[in-house]
Amino acid sequence: MRVAFIQLNPVFGETEGNIEKAVTLIQRTDAEIIVLPELFNTGYLITSKEEAFDLSEPLPGGKTTEALSAIARKKNVHIVAGLIERHAEDLFNSAVVISPSGYLGKYRKIHLFNEEKLWFQPGDLGFHVFDLGTCKIGVMVCFDWFFPESMRTLALKGADVICHCANLVLPFCQDAMITRCLENRVYAITANRTGEEKRNGKSFRYTGRSQITGPNAKILYRAGAETEEIGIAEIEVSLSRDKNLNPYNHIFLDRREHFYR
Ligand code: ACM
Repeated sequence: MRVAFIQLNPVFGETEGNIEKAVTLIQRTDAEIIVLPELFNTGYLITSKEEAFDLSEPLPGGKTTEALSAIARKKNVHIVAGLIERHAEDLFNSAVVISPSGYLGKYRKIHLFNEEKLWFQPGDLGFHVFDLGTCKIGVMVCFDWFFPESMRTLALKGADVICHCANLVLPFCQDAMITRCLENRVYAITANRTGEEKRNGKSFRYTGRSQITGPNAKILYRAGAETEEIGIAEIEVSLSRDKNLNPYNHIFLDRREHFYR
C-alpha cells in the first residue's frame, strides 16, 4: 500500500488558507494514508491561552474535521492531521483520524513540549490503535517521539504504521526514528513542517526533513529541510507484522519485563 506525508509551511492564524492549501495538496496525493503536520491549520507559536482558545475547534464537529472529511470521501483516503482541540474550557494538542466515511477518532498529545504546557492539557486518552482494514495505525504527536514508551506501547497494541504529526524544532528526531522503527519493527510517517515563526519576541525554526521510515531501519523517503513537499512510499504491512529478527529472537516475546521495573 502507498502512504504519504505532506510537508508544508502554515501561516500563523490563517486557518482558512492553511486548510485550503492542505486540501489542494491532498487532492494531488496518490496514497491510502496521508499524514499532515502537528497544528497544520493554525501554526504553532502560540503566545497566550486566549490566542490558543481562539484558534481551537471542537473535535469532531469543527471546520477542519469537516474540510478533511470532505476531501477524504472524495479521494477515498485516510487522513491524520494535527489541530487544537477545544473541549469545554480545556485545550488539547490533538490529531484527528479521518476515514473515507468521515471522523474515525482522535489522539491527544501525551508528552507536551516546552510552553505547550501553558496552553494545553496533557493528553488523557492514551495511545490507541485504529484498524483501517488494510493496516493498523497508531498516532503520536511530535515530542512523543522522545519517549520510547510511546511507540513501544503502540507497537505492542498492534500498530503497523505510526502516524506522527510533528512541528520539530530539534534536529534529532528524523535519525532517532530509524531506531524507533527498528526496535518495534513498524513503519512511521513523520509529517513535519518547514519555515520559521517569529511572534512577540520568540522564534522557532522548524526542521522539515519529514520522513517515512521502515521496520528494517530504512529511510523510504526523506523530504528537504525547507521545501513544501509531498512524500510517498510503498509499504508492506506483512513486514511490520513479523517480529522475528531471526529463528531465535522475537522482539516482543524476548522482552524481559520483570527486569524493566
Ligand atoms: C514539539 O513537540 N512540537 C517539538
